[in-house]
Amino acid sequence: MTGKVHATLDSILGQALSAIDQTADSRQLEKTRVEFLGRHGSVTAQLKSIGSLPLGDRKAFGQAVNRARDQISGALVKKGEALAARKQLSDAQKDRIDVTLPGRRGFLGGVHPITRTVRRIERIFQRAGFDVTHGPEIEDDFHNFEALNIPKDHPARAMHDTFYISPGVVLRTHTSPVQIRYLECHQPPLQIIAPGRVYRCDSDVTHTPMFHQVEGLAVDTDISFADLKGTLTFFLQEFFEQQLPVRFRPSFFPFTEPSAEVDMGCVFCDGRGCRICQQTGWLEVLGCGMVHPQVFHQVGIDNEQFTGYAFGLGIERLAMLRYGVDDLRLFFENEVAFLSQFS
Ligand code: PHE
Repeated sequence: MTGKVHATLDSILGQALSAIDQTADSRQLEKTRVEFLGRHGSVTAQLKSIGSLPLGDRKAFGQAVNRARDQISGALVKKGEALAARKQLSDAQKDRIDVTLPGRRGFLGGVHPITRTVRRIERIFQRAGFDVTHGPEIEDDFHNFEALNIPKDHPARAMHDTFYISPGVVLRTHTSPVQIRYLECHQPPLQIIAPGRVYRCDSDVTHTPMFHQVEGLAVDTDISFADLKGTLTFFLQEFFEQQLPVRFRPSFFPFTEPSAEVDMGCVFCDGRGCRICQQTGWLEVLGCGMVHPQVFHQVGIDNEQFTGYAFGLGIERLAMLRYGVDDLRLFFENEVAFLSQFS
């Protein structure tokens, strides 16, 4: 009788140890624990059966059951630790950080296409020896008109659709007043460009009340129209990175004489004629001329000794041609979808 119970206990112990040994995860390990050591487990049943043994056998069998139970719980603890260690290792491998991956980049804004264009224009002229200068956007009548040979009753004032701030104070209608301001405090020889905002009371598909110009001015003892032609042709070909044809058409500005408007071969159709150039093959890009003696007179420069040329170009126009933008207003709507194409 006693031999039999001991054999059963041994077999239970054997089963338990091999079950523990084969257990692959902690859930299954807990099930094995319940199966053997739980309230209804087989080892517990052995303990309960002690009462049915002869009195003399009880102690020895009880001790045997306790040993088996301790052995099983020891094996459970060891296995539990082994499983936990293995899980930790595999978790670490799954979450492993690949330090060779490139980091996530923060969002970077781009430079506005108009600003980019201004910088591009500045770089090209700086290479040709021009300094960059600026003037105020709020101007007085003298600098914006009078000194540029545009007197009070001159019809050219009407062309300018001026915004008046108060009598005699305007939002500058062009960058030409910077010519005057610069000449008032610098002696020739000089070569400058002056980019900036200008304002005209005008708003439709091809006009915005604020737009940008770059003024250019060169004054020295022997400046000729040929210098003007050379500089502007160089600039346009550099700006568009092409050997564009450039032509000068006679025109009129009160502050230059002679005056010209400059056309360049259409960059969209290579001069064949298209919608953008209105089938002419040419695009008008700037106004220019030789500084009028009256302008020199206003700033006290001797026009017998010095000559000069000046030009004014529209930045939006150049930006549209360079980037293929077909609506001027896109530059001022600040649509992120549009702007992000330039970043
Ligand atoms: N200021 C003129 C304009 O806005 C352009 C220009 C500048 C023409 C310099 C000649 C010389 O139309």
